[in-house]
Amino acid sequence: MRSPRSVTTEIPGPNARSEMARGTFDMQHRYRAVVMDDLASTGVWLHDVDGNVFLDLFANFALGALGYNHPALLETARSPAFVAAAVNPSSTPFVTSPSWFDFLEGVARFAPRGMSRIFCVDGGGEGVESALKVAFIRHGERRRAAAGRPRNPLELGPEEQCAIMDNAGTDAVVVSFSGAFHGRGLGPMSATHSKLIHKADLPSFDWPTAIFPANRFPLDQHAEENARAEAESLAGLEQLLERYAGRVAAVLVEPVQSEGGDRHASPAFFRGVQALAQKAGAAFILDEVQTGMGMSGTYWAHEQLDLPTPPDMVCFGKKMQMGGFFAAPDYDVGQFGRMYQTRNGDRARALLGLTTLRTIESEGLLDNVRETGAHFLARLQDLATAFPTLVSEPRGRGFLLAFDLPTTALRDDFNARALRRGVFTSYTGIRSVRIRPHLITTRAHVDEAMAVLFEVAAEMTA
Ligand SMILES: Cc1ncc(COP(=O)(O)O)c(C=O)c1O
Repeated sequence: MRSPRSVTTEIPGPNARSEMARGTFDMQHRYRAVVMDDLASTGVWLHDVDGNVFLDLFANFALGALGYNHPALLETARSPAFVAAAVNPSSTPFVTSPSWFDFLEGVARFAPRGMSRIFCVDGGGEGVESALKVAFIRHGERRRAAAGRPRNPLELGPEEQCAIMDNAGTDAVVVSFSGAFHGRGLGPMSATHSKLIHKADLPSFDWPTAIFPANRFPLDQHAEENARAEAESLAGLEQLLERYAGRVAAVLVEPVQSEGGDRHASPAFFRGVQALAQKAGAAFILDEVQTGMGMSGTYWAHEQLDLPTPPDMVCFGKKMQMGGFFAAPDYDVGQFGRMYQTRNGDRARALLGLTTLRTIESEGLLDNVRETGAHFLARLQDLATAFPTLVSEPRGRGFLLAFDLPTTALRDDFNARALRRGVFTSYTGIRSVRIRPHLITTRAHVDEAMAVLFEVAAEMTA
C-alpha cells in the first residue's frame, strides 16, 4: 500500500502560518511547530492544515497511544456516558456517577502489582506532586507516632497548630536524581534537574540530589564502566540517606529518565535504590508518567526491573489522559481534606484512559511494542554503524527509543530534515533524538521511517 506521507509546503506552511497568526493571545504561541488537521489525521499519520502528512514518531511528547482517531476512542467519546460526563463536570470525590465506578473497576486490573489505591488529577506533574504530598503526610504521621505524639495533626496542641498555619512546614526531604524530570509544579520542580530554564528564578525546596548513573551504550562494550557508575551512585545515595537519616520522606526516580536525555540504568541499580529507600524508611516512588501505559513493552516499565517487592507509589500521566498515582495500602491517605481537589477524577478523560488500556490489551499492543521496538532499535544500531561520526549510543526499551548526535545544533538539524521529509522525530536532553511512536506503529512504518533517517544521515555527512 502506498504511504500517505507527503510534504508539499515549507513547515509551517501558509495555512498553518495564518492560523498561528490568530494565536498570539496564547503565551506559548512562539514555539508552536505544527497546526494539525485533527479530523483528517488517522493512525500514525499526522495531517497538518496545509495537507502535509507526517509519520508521527513524536506522538505529542508520548501523549499519544493509539494513534489519531482510533475507532475505540471515537466509540467511547460518542457514548452517552462520555457525553454526560463531559458536559456535567463533577467534583468526583463528593459527587459522581456510575461511569466513575466503571473506570475504577476497569483500571484496577491494569494497576501495577501491589497497588490498591488510585488518586487522579489532571496532568502528570500534578500526579507526582500529589504522590510527594502523600509521602510527606505518611512520613510526618509516622515520625509523630514514633515519638509518642498524635498521628493526626488535628490533635496537636494550639501552638503547634498555629506554627503549621504559619508555614512551619517540615524538615523532611525528597531525594531525586541528577537529570530527572518530574514536572513543573513548585513541588516536583525541586526534584527536577534536567534543564536550567525550567528552574531559573523559581523558589525551591532544599532537597538533596543523588547522581544518576546514565548507562553508556552499547551495554556490552561499557559493562565495566556502567557497573562502576552504578555502584558509585548507590554508594552516594546510601551516604546521602545516612546524612538525612529519619528525614527522607521519599526517593523518587524514573525507570528511564525521559526528558533528561533518555538515560537508562540497569534493573539491579533500581533494586539497589529500592532497598536503600526501604532501609531509610522512605517511600520508593516511580515516576511512570512517560514510561508507563505500554511505552516500554509492558504496561509499566518497572515490571521489567524484577523488584522483589512492589514500589510504594507509581505515578502516571500522558497516555492515561490524566495524571495521578497508584499507591500501596500503606499510602492510602483517607483523612478528609488532606488531598482533595475539586477536579479529582475527570470522568470523561477517565473513560478515554480506560479505553486506551483495554485497547492496548485487545489489540495485543504490548507484543507489538516489544517486537517492533526491538526491530526499530536494531535498525537504529545499523544507522549508528553506517554513520559513526554522526549517530551514537542508540538505546531503548520497547518504544522508548533514542540516539545521540554530536551537538545540540546537529540534533536539531537532524530533526528538521526528517520533518521536511515527513518523519516527525523529537528531542530530549542536550543532544539526543527522542523517538516515541504510537503503540500501533508497525514494522512497515519503522522501515519507512528508517529509510528517511538513513537519507538524512547521508545528507548530513556528505
Ligand atoms: C517522567 C515525567 N514526569 C512528569 C512529567 C510532567 O507531566 P505533565 O507535563 O503532564 O505535567 C513528565 C512530562 O514529560 C515526565 O516525563
